[in-house]
Amino acid sequence: MKYIVVLVVCFLGAQAVKEDDITYHFHNRTTSNYEIKHNQLNRIAGFDFTKPSFILIHGWHSASNSPFDGEIVKALLKEHDVNVIVADWSPIAKDIYIVVKFNVPTVGKYVGYVINNITEKYGPIEKNLSFVGHSLGAHVAGVAARYLGNKPDLIVGLDPAFPFVNIKDENYALCKADAKFVQVIHSGIIAGIHAPVGHADYFPNGGFIQPGCGINIECYHKRSHYYYAESLKNNKFCAHSCAGYWKFKFGHCNDSKTSLMGGYPVDESASGKYYLDTNSKSPYGRGPCGSFGDDISKKEESNQRDM
Ligand SMILES: *[C@@H]1O[C@H](CO)[C@@H](O)[C@H](O)[C@H]1NC(C)=O
Ligand SMILES: *[C@@H]1O[C@H](CO)[C@@H](O)[C@H](O)[C@H]1NC(C)=O
Ligand SMILES: *[C@@H]1O[C@H](CO)[C@@H](O)[C@H](O)[C@H]1NC(C)=O
Ligand SMILES: *[C@@H]1O[C@H](CO)[C@@H](O)[C@H](O)[C@H]1NC(C)=O
Repeated sequence: MKYIVVLVVCFLGAQAVKEDDITYHFHNRTTSNYEIKHNQLNRIAGFDFTKPSFILIHGWHSASNSPFDGEIVKALLKEHDVNVIVADWSPIAKDIYIVVKFNVPTVGKYVGYVINNITEKYGPIEKNLSFVGHSLGAHVAGVAARYLGNKPDLIVGLDPAFPFVNIKDENYALCKADAKFVQVIHSGIIAGIHAPVGHADYFPNGGFIQPGCGINIECYHKRSHYYYAESLKNNKFCAHSCAGYWKFKFGHCNDSKTSLMGGYPVDESASGKYYLDTNSKSPYGRGPCGSFGDDISKKEESNQRDM
């Protein structure tokens, strides 16, 4: 019975999705928020695909005008001369969660088609392509990447969605085979996946709850994109390679390999799990790697008082 219900929901959900439901918003340093549909690709002839490109994909109950996209587009273009394409799938993402989850493969496929069609028309956007996806958008990015002729260079998964997502189910879940490098920032319990799914997985404040959020699951989940946006500007998110958060807290990983979380280009030498603490409000980063010692422990004390 359970399976029948799931199948019916799946069927209804899949039926509802049209390619037209996704709008692509293009941004570069001189043009902002230029909207096109999948069948209007001739309108982006002016875009410079010799520059790196970023595809941003929001999550459930979100849209291209959310802080996720706004903050990241702003930070990216301020620091880097790149093309940014925000895939707005809000007409699909606004449905109930389980329906939206079942639509991830279809949305991913459509996004993949558009990138392929752009590549056919204007040359290889795939040459230096990064995806940044939040929540279910991280899984959409993973699926979209599988439709491309070449693997994208990078997928940044910002707290990839956890509910009803089986990380072993390739139809739905972001995995490290989806890009040459997959970096994941885990920030929230319940809403976000806690298991490592990338080449490098970062767990700010342990990755379950975030300081300054009180008891607010949505706030924990969204923190990943604020951390990422900040890391693009001035990366002070130094993390330590460690087996777990309490080991990190007790200083067992003080001498382990360090890596900066987020940023662009990302630290592709990183591998496995990394832990770090952040401040409870912006600026969240506590210092670049190499500045550990007295400085950091004082900041930690003042942060404890903030909480
Ligand atoms: C941004 O895109 C427009 C086309 O929409 C193009 O004319 C312009 O040169 C681009 N600017 C940069 C900085 O690449
Ligand atoms: C281009 O897009 C269309 C649908 O809009 C799709 O059927 C086709 O497969 C796409 N081309 C590639 C190479 O993915
Ligand atoms: C992609 O862009 C990054 C950052 O600008 C650069 O370091 C890298 O060499 C580029 N890779 C390719 C294949 O162009
Ligand atoms: C680890 O580093 C912190 C911060 O510098 C320090 O307070 C702590 O004593 C160190 N722990 C160990 C076991 O070295």
